[in-house]
Amino acid sequence: MTTAVCPGSFDPVTNGHVDIFTRAARHFDEVVVLVTGNPTKSSGLFSVEERVALIERVLAGAPNIRVDFWGGLLVDYTSKHNITALVKGLRSSLDYEYELPMAQMNRRLSGVDTYFLLTDEKYGFTSSSLCKEVAKYGGDVTGLVPDIVVEAMKAKFR
Ligand code: PNS
Repeated sequence: MTTAVCPGSFDPVTNGHVDIFTRAARHFDEVVVLVTGNPTKSSGLFSVEERVALIERVLAGAPNIRVDFWGGLLVDYTSKHNITALVKGLRSSLDYEYELPMAQMNRRLSGVDTYFLLTDEKYGFTSSSLCKEVAKYGGDVTGLVPDIVVEAMKAKFR
């Protein structure tokens, strides 16, 4: 069985992320969306538990995608579970510059390969941080993040 991990902080998950997860799930038997970060530290808008719960609700109908979290090195997770593939989305050359050294480091550390999917053009400008910024000041991010994330951000910023 082929398994891929889609890692990220996902604070919060966007529709761009969801698009990458569902496209990755067409190429691998199983996809694990891995929320990275320390569950005991609150260093984002949403706790790790809240991020996991939101993604689980968004992906409830996807048969071969599950959600997990990890507070350590990514390669320790993949090696522990004998997973040899990571999948990430690329929006632009800026993402490429950020991702390349991580992909090479992860490969050097463990042999894990990173596959890149080009982000759908609809979501080329979408990021968790930009959506949080817009939502914080009352802007509308409907369509850029799942509806339940729109509501969860409204509740946080209320
Ligand atoms: O969504 P992000 O913040 O761009 O995700 C980056 C992430 C989570 C993939 C990266 O920070 C990561 O892998 N964190 C786990 C710790 C780790 O393995 N760091 C070394 C990466 S070479």
